[in-house]
Amino acid sequence: MTSQASALKLSSRMQQVSTSMTVAIAQRARVLQQQGRKIINMASGELDFDTPAAICAGAVEAIHAGATRYTNVAGLPALKEAVCRKLLTDNKLTYQPGEVIVGTGAKQLIFNAFLATIDPGDEVLIPAPYWVSYPDMVKIAGGTPVIVPATSNTDFKLTAESLKQHINGNTRWLILNSPGNPSGAVYSREEYQALAKALQQWPQVLILSDEIYEYLCWDREFISFAEAVPELFARTLTLNGVSKSYAMTGWRIGYAAGPQSLIDAMTTLQGQSTSNPSSVSQMAALTALNGDRDFLPQWCEILRHRREGAVARLQRSSCLHIAAPAGAFYLFVDCQKALNRATADGQQLQSDLQLASYLLEHAGVATVPGSAFGLPGHLRLTFSLADQDVFTACENIVSVLETLQ
Ligand SMILES: Cc1ncc(COP(=O)(O)O)c(C=O)c1O
Repeated sequence: MTSQASALKLSSRMQQVSTSMTVAIAQRARVLQQQGRKIINMASGELDFDTPAAICAGAVEAIHAGATRYTNVAGLPALKEAVCRKLLTDNKLTYQPGEVIVGTGAKQLIFNAFLATIDPGDEVLIPAPYWVSYPDMVKIAGGTPVIVPATSNTDFKLTAESLKQHINGNTRWLILNSPGNPSGAVYSREEYQALAKALQQWPQVLILSDEIYEYLCWDREFISFAEAVPELFARTLTLNGVSKSYAMTGWRIGYAAGPQSLIDAMTTLQGQSTSNPSSVSQMAALTALNGDRDFLPQWCEILRHRREGAVARLQRSSCLHIAAPAGAFYLFVDCQKALNRATADGQQLQSDLQLASYLLEHAGVATVPGSAFGLPGHLRLTFSLADQDVFTACENIVSVLETLQ
């Protein structure tokens, strides 16, 4: 049998979807590693800690107890109840199990929410910098992503003025993400309330509050959007999961809580696509939500140390401007002063993408260009790797930037 290289005819939908901008850098990093170069990967989106042992033990026990079959589409009743308890205890939000769905990662739930609600012509407001997947998910669902700049002038947060300029009768969703990826920005109660005022005259707009980094919040208090603005509770989809807070990215469990009609529609879609999320992973998530979080203070301490060490080192470069993030585990660094300078071998680095490639080759550090998040002129550096790797990577970046003229 021979494999044919000729391209298949794909659906027109696929013309809307782009491959992640980070793939090229990741591929090049792999090639360099295969050639024996040490590459420090600051481009990943997950914690480097292991899933806590008690959670793994809960999953192993569940396997032996026979939790290996299909579950209810929207998730195990015990897990949905645990989610309701979590939302009540941590966020003062009262949801019934019927208003909760568990999915294969928070990602799948966002996808289901958009597929369930978006028609052609519908617009989704996405403050930039944004998590890379939001715009493509909107496009796949047939909607139009409307990118709303939220620059360092407003601490990478959407303001009511900016919201008013972009919202209109076609707006279906507003996406909010706090703590934010890539910026680490965390919204306050007052900031949410100001946005809520602007949303009040647009009753058709749903709010997706992506709170996946909730437990990784540094210098500011975390508040859930629906807690801050109870008047918008009925049109908010509160999204969270175990991926980031419990170092469980590979287990693929997220959850969402919101209006029953939306949760029902998302459940119908899930029933026709993936059925239920993995039964074993649900049992692991149940152990996580029912257990204590005694590992978190230590994790946060380690991450704080890395963050501070990284910021102190990067600040030595006059080409970079660093705002210390209030949450998550990324530094979103303004690198505009490093652009349009000549390298030692006579190249002109015109974009953050070119700078990221240059740093990969010459500093041995993989980063993600801000363009991938809708805000060019920046680099995202993940600091959830071994302390020494974080510090060495930052020193190497600064050394390479010093050679630019
Ligand atoms: C802001 C944000 N939302 C959602 C997700 C998806 O999380 P999950 O692993 O639960 O699908 C990510 C993952 O990187 C993220 O950064």
